[in-house]
This record gives sequence, structure tokens and C-alpha cells, in this order.
Amino acid sequence: MKEVGKIWMNAKLVPFKNAKVHVLTHALHYATAVFEGIRCYNTPKGSAIFRLPEHVDRFFNSAKMYSMKMPYNKKQITDAIIKTVKNSTLKECYIRPIAYYGYGELGLTPTQNKVDVAIACWPWKMGESKAGKFTGAKCKISSWIRIDSAAQPMKAKAASNYANAGLARVEALKEGYDEAIMLNNQGKIAEGSAENIFILKNDKIITPPLTAGVLEGITRDSVIQIIEFNGGEIIEADLDREDLYVADEVFMTGTAAEVKSVTEIDKTVIGNGKPGKITKALQKSFIEVTMGKDERFISWLKYIKN
Ligand SMILES: Cc1ncc(COP(=O)(O)O)c(C=O)c1O
Repeated sequence: MKEVGKIWMNAKLVPFKNAKVHVLTHALHYATAVFEGIRCYNTPKGSAIFRLPEHVDRFFNSAKMYSMKMPYNKKQITDAIIKTVKNSTLKECYIRPIAYYGYGELGLTPTQNKVDVAIACWPWKMGESKAGKFTGAKCKISSWIRIDSAAQPMKAKAASNYANAGLARVEALKEGYDEAIMLNNQGKIAEGSAENIFILKNDKIITPPLTAGVLEGITRDSVIQIIEFNGGEIIEADLDREDLYVADEVFMTGTAAEVKSVTEIDKTVIGNGKPGKITKALQKSFIEVTMGKDERFISWLKYIKN
């Protein structure tokens, strides 16, 4: 990790190297943390944070789902994110706000501990993400089932979700794939380990509904809005594994992945084995939106002056 700038910890900017926690921090033992992943893009008009209010809202909703009392309000967190990015002097970066139960008691009940909040950012260039972004990812349907929302709130972006996602990711990588796709406990397609998923079949774009137990992805929402603004239609419907195999195109969306083409699933070639026409068009539209070149979505960018 490139150590740049400072990390905001409980309202203080501390040098990157000194942003440390105690080994008995509650979240380290019980995964009692919620977090966000946000991007700041280097646009022709300067650095801009993508869909900041939506990320801040989700951050607070995630905390609420876990009865975690955020010690700052949304405006304070928003300002802190902007301040951290400005302080980093990075023109483009990935931003990671995290709220977690800190050091204090180490029993299972988290709520007796103080909630600590930190915000860090680090360099992450556009287009620079996991294998397969522009060439097409090779995915595996994971043998690990996505945690059921009846077991824990999967709409929360919580650290505890990522043990499950990590198992799927590692399994896929060990077997030579780029990414995992997880089924829910009904055997329906849920999502990737850190992405939502879409298919194109007979000119229809379909994505699993939020009730499939998936994260309410902000990139998912952005892509849906872009398609709808362009006169297209999105169908939210449960998908079976075989729907993916016979799809004309498959793509994934996420803050890190942006719009990523999937060209192989379980060694079955999707479409003609190359990133599809609609996926490529969406990648292009998404770049235009994040670069502030599409006036219709300009409100999604929070320009900051470095
Ligand atoms: C499990 C999971 N699904 C979907 C997404 C995509 O969400 P977003 O587009 O808000 O980054 C992510 C990434 O945050 C994720 O971790």
C-alpha cells in the first residue's frame, strides 16, 4: 500500500503510518465494523468524488442495521471525507470510511464499546482493477453460498459479510479464475464477491433484485439510471445459474470494478467470448459520467479543489 497523506481518525488527521488500533479492538475479533468504498475521479474539471451523499447514506444505514451509534452526523462525515481526500493531494483515489467498535470490553456485546470512525484514501487509478475489466473476466460459480439476509443484514456493507465473500474470492483465484459469482440459499444468482451482476439476453438487461440478498450497489443503481435515461429498460428478476451460461453478455458493477465484462463462467464461454457490445457501450457511458462529460449526471460528482 502506498502511504500517502493522512488518515482521519476520530476527527483528527494523523500521519498514515501512525493510524493504528489496539490488538484488542472489538472489530478485529468480532467483525463489528461497517464501511464504504468510494471513488474520487480525476476529471478534466478537477478531482470529483462519485455519488458521495449516496455512499454516506449507505454508511449510516449500515451502522443503523447493526444498532451502531455513529458518533458524527452525515455532514461531519461528508466534510471529513472531503478533507481527507484534499489532504492526500491525490487527484484520484479510493476512499475507505470505516466505523467500528473499538478498544474497551472484549465480550460479544459490542454496544458497550466506543464507536471509532476512520477515513483513509489511497491511489487507485480508473480502469485499474482486478483481472478481466477490459478483456473479460473468467468467473466461477462459488461453492460458498451467499449469506442469507435472514441470518444477517446483507444490505449493510459490513465487515462480517466479507468473510463469506473472501472465501468465494479465494476459492475462485485458487482454481485459476478471476472472480467468484455467488448463489443465494435459494440457488438463485446473488452477486460477485464485491460486485453486482447483470446479464443481457435477447436484448433484455436483467439483474437480480435486491431481495436476492445482494448489496444495494451504488454502481448498480448508476448503471440502471444510465440505461433508463438512454431509453433502455432493466428487468429485476431472479436468475438461475444456467441463465448466465446462455446469456449473450454478462457484466458486473462495483465501485472498484466499475463496469466489468465477464466472458467465461465455469469454463462456459459467454456469447462470443469477447466483451459484448452493450457492455462496452456501458463502460464508455460510465466513464463519460464519472469524467463529468455527461451533463445529465453531473450532480453525481462532488468536485473538490485540491
Ligand atoms: C458484495 C458487494 N456487492 C456489490 C458491490 C458493489 O457496490 P458499489 O457499486 O456500491 O460499490 C460491492 C462493493 O462495494 C460489494 O462488496
